[in-house]
Amino acid sequence: MPGKVALRHDGDVAVIAVDNPPVNALSHDVRTALADAFTRARDDANIRAIVLTAQGRTFVAGADITEFDKPPMSPSLSDVIALIESIQKPVVASVFGTPLGGGLEITLACHFRIAASGTRLGLPEIKLGLIPGAGGTQRLPRLVGMQKAAAMILSGDPIPAKDALAAGLIDEIFEGDPAASGIAFARKVLAEKRPLTRARDREDKLVALRADPKTFEEIVAVNTKRSRGLDAPAAAIEVLRAAIDVPFDDALKLEREAFVRLRAGDQSKAQRHIFFAEREAAKIPGLPKDTKPREIKRAAVIGAGTMGGGIAMCFANAGIPVTIVETNADALKRGLDTIEKNYRASAARGGMSEADVGKRMSLFNGVTGMDAAKDADIVVEAAFEEMGVKREIFEGLDRVMGPRTILATNTSYLDVNEIARITRRPASVLGMHFFSPANVMRLLEIVRGADTAPDVLATALAVARAIKKVPVVVGVSHGFVGNRMLRIRSIEAERLLLEGALPQDVDGALTEFGFPMGPFAMSDLAGLDISWRMRKAQGARAEIADQLCEAGRFGQKTGKGFYLYESGSRAPRPDPEVESLIAATSKRLGVTRHPLDRKTIVERLIFPMINEGARILEEGIAARPGDIDVIWIYGYGFPLWRGGPMFHADTVGLSYIRDRLREFAKQTGDKRHEPAPLLDTLASEGRGFGSLAKA
Ligand code: 3HC
Repeated sequence: MPGKVALRHDGDVAVIAVDNPPVNALSHDVRTALADAFTRARDDANIRAIVLTAQGRTFVAGADITEFDKPPMSPSLSDVIALIESIQKPVVASVFGTPLGGGLEITLACHFRIAASGTRLGLPEIKLGLIPGAGGTQRLPRLVGMQKAAAMILSGDPIPAKDALAAGLIDEIFEGDPAASGIAFARKVLAEKRPLTRARDREDKLVALRADPKTFEEIVAVNTKRSRGLDAPAAAIEVLRAAIDVPFDDALKLEREAFVRLRAGDQSKAQRHIFFAEREAAKIPGLPKDTKPREIKRAAVIGAGTMGGGIAMCFANAGIPVTIVETNADALKRGLDTIEKNYRASAARGGMSEADVGKRMSLFNGVTGMDAAKDADIVVEAAFEEMGVKREIFEGLDRVMGPRTILATNTSYLDVNEIARITRRPASVLGMHFFSPANVMRLLEIVRGADTAPDVLATALAVARAIKKVPVVVGVSHGFVGNRMLRIRSIEAERLLLEGALPQDVDGALTEFGFPMGPFAMSDLAGLDISWRMRKAQGARAEIADQLCEAGRFGQKTGKGFYLYESGSRAPRPDPEVESLIAATSKRLGVTRHPLDRKTIVERLIFPMINEGARILEEGIAARPGDIDVIWIYGYGFPLWRGGPMFHADTVGLSYIRDRLREFAKQTGDKRHEPAPLLDTLASEGRGFGSLAKA
């Protein structure tokens, strides 16, 4: 038997253990070996019960996603599951870690299921643009009812063992060794002569639903609020409906067809790309894997404003005590009050208990001088975006903090090398660029300076993981990766206004493309004054945005920006005043306005960003195209199912993008639209950005 599945006997109980590190994925050799082991155990007259478990850190975490782009090979997972389900001896799944996807589906096919106390069980296929493809959509509702099953399948979120027990998904929770616990449970089943119930034969939890189809629609509506543009949720709903309407085996066929269709589709390919890109981003070229991070027991944040407060919350949420430093008591109190208000709001929504609020708040220590933060192992500076301010702070930090303390800046644009060299410890300085709201947004751009030491970088990555962020390491460049590309999009969005579009046309085109918000609605939300101030400092100008600011229209906070906002509302309404201002500006600048369709608007906004992404790769500011994709998905709301700008570029085709960029360069006279050499070369060679990773 191949080595990925072990079969051993404990008296009359067979123990089948999957051993395929790191996560025991069900690759072809595992499926083959499982089928072989189950057949032997089934046919062995001395064996009265079978335990299925695994070696290593987790029970099977799913199908092997790396096989999804290859031709299918038998036995399929469904074949293995059908074999297990047909066995006339008790089969007990003894699971631990994260039984997910195909790993949970194989569990559902066993007659009994027990789980270790820390187990998290789930069907996360939807997060990969898929649905469960080996019976999960049919067996799970039969075991836990449609409400719970639909919530699990449509969210993809796993549930803890105790919820699984309450829902009827598992029979028992154990502490200790999975194999030994499985054997003990199997002996109990034999001794008690418990009947072997197969999930497929259970109808009790579906009967009521059959009598009242309206309930199903209600369940679905609650669970699909955020599925705009996605194919998988609609497919999941159809096959879940089949659990009520269609005989089991026919429903399995429908499930399989939908799974195969989704697996071959662009959306799932894009989502799988992001799954792997996110993990790849954690591997830093030139950083030895065994680099030991510095120990972080206590953090400090400079600045209790929106950003600083949010960053401090990230530390407290991870149980890391954090000192917040402000310049005066009023600002400090305002900051701490806001943090407490945020936690209370979260408690009111059921996100945490009142006791948790107290526990989190006890981790904050608010102070008005840096000296009081000197025991911190890492400091994140989140003060005003101005080099003079940063200079003063970093000089102070360098004086006060221990020599091994890491000093990070949350700057969005400034030169991290310059900031590092303000101190006598440039090797211990780097950028940690959070996104607003910092306690919510998953992305963290880690800016590696020219002098940043490897262990400092490794520490920043470890901190990112501890505070549950998705880190991407980037190089020093104005705006790093995300904001550098965003700036290109903003310039282009303004230009479109002058050429003939209105804010609602531009925003409408991008929301239709899949962004949660267009650039103008986003500017209104963030406040127009921030970028106005920055442009003024740089001697730059944005015709429309600057005029709005000069008229005191700073966005939502003043009730007016690119749009109008009724008091208390965040819904943007087109404003005729803005439309006249735009038309007058076009006229003044001698631009003849003309209609722009949505496709053109999207291309004008996205293709130049892709071009900038290519330059970022040429300059080595991002290590891989996938890093840029992860940044745009997690930091800027790029639609997940399009896989990020660089993956999207490959889907569209680079030669088409190159040709369009050349046209844009001609139309606008903007040289930055000329295709970047990397994009041009790849297009000429008929390649995509994806080929770079494999080169
Ligand atoms: N297939 C192939 N490789 C996988 C994998 C899978 N299902 N799950 C994880 N891996 C790989 C990762 O790519 C990573 O590889 P690397 O070390 O080369 O980067 C390695 O395993 C470890 O993964 P993580 O770094 O993510 O480890 P964590 O401990 O942080 O997380 C996990 C473990 C929770 C299992 C997480 O990896 C995960 O969520 N995996 C995906 C689970 C999933 O989506 N399962 C469903 C698959 S689809 C399916 O089953 C279809 C079925 O219905 C027919």
